[in-house]
Amino acid sequence: MIPALLHPTLVAVAATVDATAEVETVAPTGNPAHGDYQWNFAFRMAKALRMNPRALAEKLAPQIVHPAIRKVEVAGPGFINLTLDDAWIARTVAAQVTEPDVGIAPEGAGRTVVVDFSSPNVAKRMHIGHMRSTHIGDALVRMHRASGWTVIGDNHIGDWGTQFGKLIVAYRNWLDPVAFQADAIGELERLYVEFGNRAKDDPSLGDAARAEIAKLQKGDPENTALWREFLSISMAEFQAVYRRLGVRFDETLGESAYRDMTDKVVEDLLAAGIAEVSEGATIVRFEHDVAIVRKKDGADNYTTSDVACVRYREGRWHPDRIVIVTDMRQQRHFQQVFEIARRLDATDAELVHAWFGMLVLPDGAVPSTRGGNTIRLVDLLDEAVRRARAVVDAKSPNLDEAERAAIAEAVGVGAVRYADLSQHPQTNVTFDWDRMLSLDGNTAPYLLYSHARCASVLAKALRPEEGQEAPDLGAIVIGDPLERELLLALARYPEMVAAATRGYRPNQLAEHLFEVANRFNRFYHDLPVLKGGDARASRLALVDASRRVLRHGMEILGLSVLDRM
Ligand code: ARG
Repeated sequence: MIPALLHPTLVAVAATVDATAEVETVAPTGNPAHGDYQWNFAFRMAKALRMNPRALAEKLAPQIVHPAIRKVEVAGPGFINLTLDDAWIARTVAAQVTEPDVGIAPEGAGRTVVVDFSSPNVAKRMHIGHMRSTHIGDALVRMHRASGWTVIGDNHIGDWGTQFGKLIVAYRNWLDPVAFQADAIGELERLYVEFGNRAKDDPSLGDAARAEIAKLQKGDPENTALWREFLSISMAEFQAVYRRLGVRFDETLGESAYRDMTDKVVEDLLAAGIAEVSEGATIVRFEHDVAIVRKKDGADNYTTSDVACVRYREGRWHPDRIVIVTDMRQQRHFQQVFEIARRLDATDAELVHAWFGMLVLPDGAVPSTRGGNTIRLVDLLDEAVRRARAVVDAKSPNLDEAERAAIAEAVGVGAVRYADLSQHPQTNVTFDWDRMLSLDGNTAPYLLYSHARCASVLAKALRPEEGQEAPDLGAIVIGDPLERELLLALARYPEMVAAATRGYRPNQLAEHLFEVANRFNRFYHDLPVLKGGDARASRLALVDASRRVLRHGMEILGLSVLDRM
């Protein structure tokens, strides 16, 4: 991690001018003319030190001495540009890529994080609206693991709440047993929508649903049995999607897991004076609004449940961090939950709501089951795989049927996932079939293809007839600017993973992998590898390093990496 590595030297240099402020790290320049990294410290500190920034930079620059740095230059009004040493970059990459963690600093070692993600509501099929939490959450799980954290991925499914009252009423009145036999989850979904339609004209249905939910909450055996059935039907449906996406959870503790803990939450909030009774409801006041923690009818709600959940996680895992991944609409909810948890002193963990922007349809609408305007996740994946299959069949007719199917699955599912992860999480994303399934540009197929190209070059470097089991990789020597720019991107990989993890932004990692792939392809296009003569062994080592970094990064983003396409 280059900035972290240089930091102590910079701190020591800063100390020579009595700098009091925190010493910032170096930032990549993005322009080789300005060196590899820039240090803005002199520019920023000059005023406080009553010095001319350029003069300060010139005083500091000669003192920056480090084995990784070949050249230090003062630029512009007081920036310090650092150029790394070629041999140092080569050695560093060679050492990093053979370590299991590819050089990523174990920032999370000894620390535990709970990642609460995906979390669909029961009795509906998973649709494109569930995609972002699942993709982003799974990437955050893998990013934290790669940085040494102990991670508990928890699927906080919506398996408790008013929808079950509605479903029970609908199930008893309008069930189509034949349809239920054929497609249980589809029929539940239809019943749910049907309830909504009928309830518009018939207010008594709302009362009936409330009566059923009250019975369920009191443990009525018939309603409990129905609830269990709805739950198991849904879980089977969810599992099938998760299996296909390669997503797994360490826990699946839905809202129902906390239902017996909410009474105590309300009791403690009242006893501590954090909550009060107002007009029959129990509320917690904030500066500009209130949160209801127990409704007039005595029912605890989503807020109460989530406060109980913080407590439970604290008691069970003593986490250092809890990350909850939902769309932007739940921002206020989690601000309130976190604030209540703090007032209750429920945990020391850092509480993070990693919210993301909405997935919207081209007409601007948010897809929803009730609105009937959504696309099933399995249908999206099937279409993606179908399109990928057509390309594989055309490009690689020589591969056998099973391999082509496996490639199409990896490319199709990966394309959908990557199209989502490569965008800034906190922007709205417009659903667009062509963009989702595109095979060019910053896409999963492009990265997968770049990796497969590395693997095939290395395979060709083998001479099995001479008993050679691994390609003869040499020490990496930089002989060309294209080699240097590729190596630098590889050297920066660990710090990019760390930055993406710190910012909860898988897209930063995606962007970096795209950069690595681009640089690799430029290098490979312009410089001979197998026929590289004296440079052959070094270039093969560079191909191997590229392969390892691409593979590692794509696995963090949850793609199935292929050696052949
Ligand atoms: N089931 C919720 C929904 O679909 C998301 C749950 C998020 N996690 C939580 N701890 N509340 O909106």
